[in-house]
Amino acid sequence: MKSLANYQEAFLAYLNQQDYTLEPNGLYAPIDYILKLGGKRLRPILVLLAVESFGAKKEKALPASLAVEIFHNFSLVHDDIMDEAPLRRGKPTVHKKWDTNTGILSGDAMLIMAYQQLHDYPSSQAKQLHQLFSKTAIQICEGQQYDVEFETRNLVSETEYLQMIEYKTAVLVACALQMGAIIAEAAEESQHKIYEFGKLLGIAFQLQDDFLDAFGNPATFGKQIGGDILENKKTFLYIKAKELGNEKQKDELNRFFSVETHKNEDKIQQVKDVFEATGAKKSIQKAIEAYTHQAIKVLNSIEMEEQAKNHLLEFSDWLMTRKV
Ligand code: IPE
Ligand code: MN
Ligand code: MN
Repeated sequence: MKSLANYQEAFLAYLNQQDYTLEPNGLYAPIDYILKLGGKRLRPILVLLAVESFGAKKEKALPASLAVEIFHNFSLVHDDIMDEAPLRRGKPTVHKKWDTNTGILSGDAMLIMAYQQLHDYPSSQAKQLHQLFSKTAIQICEGQQYDVEFETRNLVSETEYLQMIEYKTAVLVACALQMGAIIAEAAEESQHKIYEFGKLLGIAFQLQDDFLDAFGNPATFGKQIGGDILENKKTFLYIKAKELGNEKQKDELNRFFSVETHKNEDKIQQVKDVFEATGAKKSIQKAIEAYTHQAIKVLNSIEMEEQAKNHLLEFSDWLMTRKV
């Protein structure tokens, strides 16, 4: 077991060995661009961490870790089109740098390339990996659809919201860990527990993302601050503010989230003020802690070496104290 930076390096070395400068350039250049744009690489790191936690060599998991990272980046390319996002990792999004059609087709190719990375696993593992990957991919589409539908809905319950982020974000974190467990041929019970750990951590991660989207530092966050507010996203902050706010604050939110003509900076700042004044900001921070705590409880119940557990704990800490 090595430090997290080692896993990241191993993954990056493998990624950089891949040649994505193929023809037609118009299809592959955006793929090369988004894959090399950086990012935390947390999902591939999790695949590698999981495989070693269950006693196999990380080299075995490199193709699967790349599958997960390519898939994740594909989902971001399409998500940025859907969310009309100008920035990703501090740089122009694919559809802004090129155009929407490029984002659609390069994204499609990436989805296929992700599956290609799973082709060479021994057949029994390949079957399990494919099944898990496909189940996850469909859930992500479901989560994305709920997310879109919630934008134009007035009422979204906390339960509905949590289900939505479980699908759009948490299941891929869980899947990454279980893929490592499958490749290491871990016991079924361990596979399920590591999946559960990932799911809870993934929910905490998405809540943190919602928090940073409003309250993050524009210099380090890499995305447009207030993007969710501009898109009328019914995030946890919004739902809590509606629940905790007084009549005046609720009216204000209703007004802001139904009118599109407010000057952008005004809308962002005023909605953030409401999030703060209603206690929604505090409430999301509490929820992030609670989910992280639950995740760690599940992790502690898994049969694995103490050192491996510590690495996963270290990972959770790193993730939840992130500013980007
Ligand atoms: C993205 O969700 C989820 C997927 C790409 C499946 P968000 O739209 O909330 O994420 P960011 O804020 O753009 O990264
Ligand atoms: Mn989105
Ligand atoms: Mn988005």
